[in-house]
Parts: sequence; structure tokens; C-alpha cells
Amino acid sequence: MTEPSKTATLTLDGQSIDLPIHSPSAGPDVVDIRKLYGGAGVFTYDPGFTSTASCRSTITFIDGDKGELLHRGYPIDQLASKSHYLEVCYLLLYGELPTATQLEDFESRVTNHTMLHEQMQYFFRGFRRDAHPMAILVGVVGAMSAFYHDSTDINDPWQREVASIRLIAKMPTIAAWAYKYHLGQPFVYPRNDLDYASNFLRMCFAVPAEEYVVDPILSRAMDRIFTLHADHEQNASTSTVRLASSSGANPFACIAAGIACLWGPAHGGANQACLEMLKEIGTVDKIPEFIARAKDKNDPFRLMGFGHRVYKNFDPRATVMKQSADEVLDLLGVEDNPILQVAKELEKQALEDPYFADKKLFPNVDFYSGIILEAMGFPTSMFTPIFALSRTVGWISQWKEQLSDPEHKIGRPRQLYVGETLRDYVDIENR
Ligand code: ACO
Repeated sequence: MTEPSKTATLTLDGQSIDLPIHSPSAGPDVVDIRKLYGGAGVFTYDPGFTSTASCRSTITFIDGDKGELLHRGYPIDQLASKSHYLEVCYLLLYGELPTATQLEDFESRVTNHTMLHEQMQYFFRGFRRDAHPMAILVGVVGAMSAFYHDSTDINDPWQREVASIRLIAKMPTIAAWAYKYHLGQPFVYPRNDLDYASNFLRMCFAVPAEEYVVDPILSRAMDRIFTLHADHEQNASTSTVRLASSSGANPFACIAAGIACLWGPAHGGANQACLEMLKEIGTVDKIPEFIARAKDKNDPFRLMGFGHRVYKNFDPRATVMKQSADEVLDLLGVEDNPILQVAKELEKQALEDPYFADKKLFPNVDFYSGIILEAMGFPTSMFTPIFALSRTVGWISQWKEQLSDPEHKIGRPRQLYVGETLRDYVDIENR
């Protein structure tokens, strides 16, 4: 850790306390308040952690004002156009782009771990048929700790590595089986001759009764969706994984916690909510009515797929996703899809509206992803599981980074307590 170059002075009740300031390689300086309570007897108050750096990280960097997303320094648009998901996984996990040999070895390790323990089938069958695939995902991933005991010791680097590969390799199988179970169709086993995205598409859409050939353009679009969702700094689900991990919980439990957090409509559930909203709008002439509702303080309605905690400019992933939507719909011969027309017009009208401009609300990655996924044949209930599958590598990379950070300790936020102070218990007959 580099020595802080500056200090901030906080004066409180006439007493001054110096707080070190750390300079990051990118982004704003960070005031180190670890000694604040000990030195001045006060906490900081920051609901939603809007101004709090919870860790030191070298994985992903977002410049929200510029609309820039970097993984290990490489911009997301370059990775989305020149690289592919498993190479990005390697980059996130190990810090550098792989050589050809390293990539081949990594791909082969992932490919050889895609099958699930056969007994896990019975675990799937315990869920109700109409269970949401995310509910199945949370349960099955958490239960991996019961099936893969030999990769739960977080203090053993080898076990950490095996758990990482297992999670990346098995998530597509788990997500696809959650879908198949929901449909009442037989589980489709992974095939080692297919690439990661093609394998997932086949496990979702193949049936034993006929041959299924993966379209390379769809497989490329799927791979790009995985790549665009691979990691995103200290967002809610990643912070959940880190918080769960801070107690020493096993990797499968930590990732299950991340999946549970991702499920919410303000986070990973937004692509489902966005597509549902676009369908509810239905036709271009209804757009002004929905924009008016989004601006109305008395109406809880928000434009889903718009706005982001960090981006105060275009989400760079949304730009790539919009291109993908055009390509995929063109390939599938549905270029005049009415929902895509509504999305494009809604984006245009919102961007021209001073409300959205003043609050710096721009389309985020979820605005177009639902349109692509639906065109590929996925029901809305699979959108968030696909996000979870893609983000697994980000969660694991952050989890591994945390475990190797000598400064990491159990997460334990403080509070601004505004409840009752000490009072005596009142017997029930006297209340
Ligand atoms: N539609 C209308 N108004 C909005 C929207 C929106 N989508 N998003 C924010 N605003 C307004 C708020 O009402 C608030 O207005 P105010 O200052 O007058 O009170 C202001 O913009 C700031 O909003 P906050 O909720 O304080 O911003 P925050 O950074 O906490 O929220 C969030 C970010 C949760 C993503 C929000 O923009 C939102 O709810 N968007 C819709 C859901 C969505 O698309 N989520 C996906 C996020 S990306 C991801 O998880 C992959």
C-alpha cells in the first residue's frame, strides 16, 4: 500500500483530526476514515454507500461522467468487439490477457467442469414446476457446497481455484436446467465440442427428439451479452458477495448471496422489468404518457433501463447492446419488431427531455438486452438468470481479490440510531 500523499483535516468541537487521503490510479481521491471513530468518536452516515469506497480493487473501473468501463484497464467496447467471454473471464480472474496456450488451458479446464453432479438432478426436481428460475439458481448454487466439499476451504488457494472454475463452468448448466425444469422438458447435458455460449444455447433450446444446430450469429450475440455483464465494480450484488465472504463463508454460499441480491428489479431484474414496461407502452403514441408518469413525483413509476448509480452519461454497454439488438433482430428477420421501435423512440424522446438530461439519466445495459434475449427465444424469467451466469466471473474475481487482501476484515457497518433509548419492560396487562 502506497503512503498517503495528502491529509484532510476534520474539525469537531474545536478538536482537529487528520485523515489520510489515498490517491487511486484512476477516479477521485479517497479519504481514509478508519481512525475517525477512535480519534473523534463519530461515525459517518452514507445510506446506499454513495460516497464510500468499501475496498481496494484492481479489477474494474468505471468513469461515470465519461461513460467509460474498463476491465483491468481494457475498455469494454474493445473487449466486446475483439475478445470473447472466456478470454474476458481469464482477464478478470488473473489480471492479464492470456497467451494462446494459457487461453487454451483455461478453456479446457472450464469445458471439463460443465457437468453437474448427477445427484443434483434430484435437487432440481424438489422445486415446484412453476418456480422462478432465479429461485432455483439461488438454491442450487448455495447447495453446491453440499456437493463439492473439496472446494469449500477458502484458506487453500488450490480449492479457491477449483471452486472458481467450477462456478464459471457449471452456471450455464444450472441456468439452462432451471429453464428446462420449468418447461417440463428433459435436461440437456453439456457438450465439450461446443464453445461456452453455444453450449448454453443448446442446453436451453435442444430437445432429444431432434437435432439442434446453434446459429453462430446468435452464439456470438449470446457471448457478447455474457461479456457485457461480466463485472461492474462494487455494485449491490458484488458488495453482497464481498460482505458474505468477509465472514469466511464458502464460495458457493457467497455467490448464492450475490444471486439473491441481483434478483431485485433495481438491479439484475431491471431487464425483465424493462421489457415488460416496453410491452406495456406497446405503441409509439403512448410514449409521452409514460414519460410524464416517470417525471411525476407522485407516481412511483420509473423508466426501467434508464439511470444508473454510477453512469451519469451513456452506459457504454448500452451502446454495444443496441448494435447487437439490430444485428440479432435482422438475422431473425424481425427488424420491424414493434417493441424495438418503442425502445428506440422512447430513448430518443427521453434524451430530448430536460428532466432526464438535467438528472443525467441515460439508457443502461438493460434497456436493449431484454429485446435481444426475447428475440433469441428466452422468456423474461430467464433474463436475470442469464445476467447471474454472466456476472459469476466478476463475483468470483472480486471474492478472490478480497481473500488475498491483507486489509480485509469482516464487514460490519455502523448505524445512525434514532429509536427509543433505554426503557423498562412493561408487563402485557399494563400496556
Ligand atoms: N426514471 C425516472 N426518474 C428516475 C429514474 C428513472 N429510471 N432513475 C432515477 N430517477 C430520478 C429519481 O426520481 C431522482 O429524482 P429526484 O432527485 O428528483 O428525487 C433522481 O433521478 C436520482 O435517482 P436515485 O434513485 O436517487 O438515483 P440512484 O443512483 O440511487 O438510482 C437506479 C439508480 C436505482 C439505477 C435508478 O436510476 C433506477 O431506479 N433506474 C431504473 C431501474 C434500472 O434500470 N436499474 C438497472 C440498473 S443497471 C444494472 O443493475 C445492471
